[in-house]
Amino acid sequence: MNSSDMKSVVGKPLNRVDGHAKVTGAARYSAEFPVAKLVHGVTIQSTIASGKIAQIDTRAAERVPGVLLVMTHLNAPKVSGEAGGDRKLPLLQDNQVRYSGQHIGVVVADTFEHAMQAAALVNIRYDEEQPALHLKEHLDQAYVPQGKIPRDQPPDSAHGSVEQGLATAAVKVEQTYTTPIENHNPMEPHATTAVWQGDRLLLYDATQGVFGAKKKVAAVLGMPPENVRIMSYFVGGGFGCKGSTWAHVVLTAMAARQVNRPVKLVLGRMQMFGPVGFRPETMQQVSLGATREGNLTALRHAGTSITSTFDEFIEPVAKTARMIYACPHIETSHRLVRLNVGTPTYMRAPGEASGSFALESAMDELAYALKIDPIELRLRNYAEFDPDKKLPWSSKSLRECYQQGAARFGWQKRNPTPRSMRDGNTLIGWGMATATYPTNRSPASAIAQIKADGTAVVRSGSQDIGTGTYTVMTQIAADALGLPAEQIQFELGDTNLPETPVSGGSQTAASVGSAVHLAGTEARSKLLQLALMDQASPLYGATAEDVIAQNGRFLLKNKAANAETYGAILSRHGLKTIEARADAKPGEEKDKYSMHSFGAQFVEVRVNPDSGEVRVSRWVGAFGVGRLLNAKTANSQLIGGIVYGIGMALMEHTVMDPNRGRVVNADLAEYHVPVNADVPSIDVIFVDEQDPHVNPIGVKGIGEIGITGSAAAIANAVYHATGQRVRDLPLTLDKLL
Ligand code: MOS
Repeated sequence: MNSSDMKSVVGKPLNRVDGHAKVTGAARYSAEFPVAKLVHGVTIQSTIASGKIAQIDTRAAERVPGVLLVMTHLNAPKVSGEAGGDRKLPLLQDNQVRYSGQHIGVVVADTFEHAMQAAALVNIRYDEEQPALHLKEHLDQAYVPQGKIPRDQPPDSAHGSVEQGLATAAVKVEQTYTTPIENHNPMEPHATTAVWQGDRLLLYDATQGVFGAKKKVAAVLGMPPENVRIMSYFVGGGFGCKGSTWAHVVLTAMAARQVNRPVKLVLGRMQMFGPVGFRPETMQQVSLGATREGNLTALRHAGTSITSTFDEFIEPVAKTARMIYACPHIETSHRLVRLNVGTPTYMRAPGEASGSFALESAMDELAYALKIDPIELRLRNYAEFDPDKKLPWSSKSLRECYQQGAARFGWQKRNPTPRSMRDGNTLIGWGMATATYPTNRSPASAIAQIKADGTAVVRSGSQDIGTGTYTVMTQIAADALGLPAEQIQFELGDTNLPETPVSGGSQTAASVGSAVHLAGTEARSKLLQLALMDQASPLYGATAEDVIAQNGRFLLKNKAANAETYGAILSRHGLKTIEARADAKPGEEKDKYSMHSFGAQFVEVRVNPDSGEVRVSRWVGAFGVGRLLNAKTANSQLIGGIVYGIGMALMEHTVMDPNRGRVVNADLAEYHVPVNADVPSIDVIFVDEQDPHVNPIGVKGIGEIGITGSAAAIANAVYHATGQRVRDLPLTLDKLL
């Protein structure tokens, strides 16, 4: 039995099913749930980066009208900030200050204004210590991480001997590249509303992972997980910073229990620079060796990134170097330096985004050293299988990406000589880079229910972080159930629904989509079996293979007059609904294949030779990402990733005061992200790619690959325009003068 392919909803550029709710304001974000007797929380943050709280005077704050609680390390309940989950949380358990901006108190009052006023009146005296704030000053303390990099890989890898490979090289590039701290800045700030119902806790939380939040909060508070429920219907962007549960979430729950009232706590924009993660500063050494003909003989990528003094986050910058090019000698390593900063975290393509800046810049430098076209250099080192895992690719369309991207961009008209292309006084540069991101998948469950009125409800915990999860899951369910998309209601964002993974690592479509597909298919099969065995049905006696499902009806392939609606079958059996649950998980395909998306970025920049101003004027990105679920939302994801890359390349830079470690540009006026005027029309090509191995729905995930290679493509274009190689992001105009 198949849904007729002609009618397939998957792939169509369907408008967002939640679009109307969003533009009319009906969509409820986590800070917008009406809760009776709600009071307001505000956190107090440290103003030093290292030391101890010597004295904390809350008397003036407590006298502000409406104040219900001033919670500090002196009166906070005992909890375990180290329990569960992937982040250690400072939760007012001691007087230690570990970074500037650490939450050191929570004020709860009847209004937000009273809470703010009281927070400002808390008087704190510190015993300040000299903070460690600069990566370059502490490189001698770099250490081998205790943890693993993603996919449970060790921090170091070695195939062959890079020293040997470099010794035989005709041409070498050995350079250091640096990237700064960057902050995610989703439009919606972090927000939590905590409601206690006896010993049960309900949290409305802005999170990329409702189940992760449930487990973390339960572990920290010492509660059975089944007593914690997290709801998150709409998330206004995350990009990684809402992928972990941070201190303010638990502090809100603690405060709500203390005051015996529901508490809402929303972080201000400035409070999002420190306590909720950031992309860590990195220093990366890349060594490449090649023959005259451009065959790589050695590839080393050694990354050092910063972490906090109390927790470990590894930015896996060298991960891509393990698999992207064929080379007999490949070594990679990751080191960490502890500083008095908050703990860094995943930020859109963690590892690949910063790592590809270094590696793909170095490849461009090698292309110039060899006088080989940069696409040709990459083709000469094309990896026909994964050189690290020694596994075949589940699918790989990178050649097609280079070819189709170059054709659309007009790459063959490029004069490779730097400063050779001009428009009047303006220098024109064309650059390119390879993009890649792994295809991740985790166990996920879903329930599909067909109702007697011919509609269906499909439920799966998950969350929609603005990517279009509601929409693409509706499309998958429509095809699986044989129903029009309008007849399907898809519900998510609640830990009372079937369990799903964090929406991170570009894995939601592959993980949740597989579960929705299987649950929908199973529910439809169960319903069909009822009809096939029922003498009253016009389908009686047929086999499943004889039947097509279409528009809420089953009909015989060879005799369309023999048809019956879903509703008729259910009614005749006296059933209100029929449902199926699927618990989908990755199988042995991950041991048989290496699974990645690939792409090629092409960019034109225009550089003012007098001011050094760089404008991005044209962009073509070509990607092989498996099957597209929705042509419109997919295009948006890739455009969004590339825009994030433009910000990374040219603007984004979190600046700390060099002595006190306080972020001095902690708002959107001073922390620059691209605006529409900074973004050219972006031409995204999806290379046709069928991947039968990767998962039941053939999708590879598209949330992150767009940023990979972007910053390098821009830096390479700027070199082509100016002859100046900038190895330090962001590529601001002062670095070109
Ligand atoms: Mo993403 S940085 O895996 O949320």
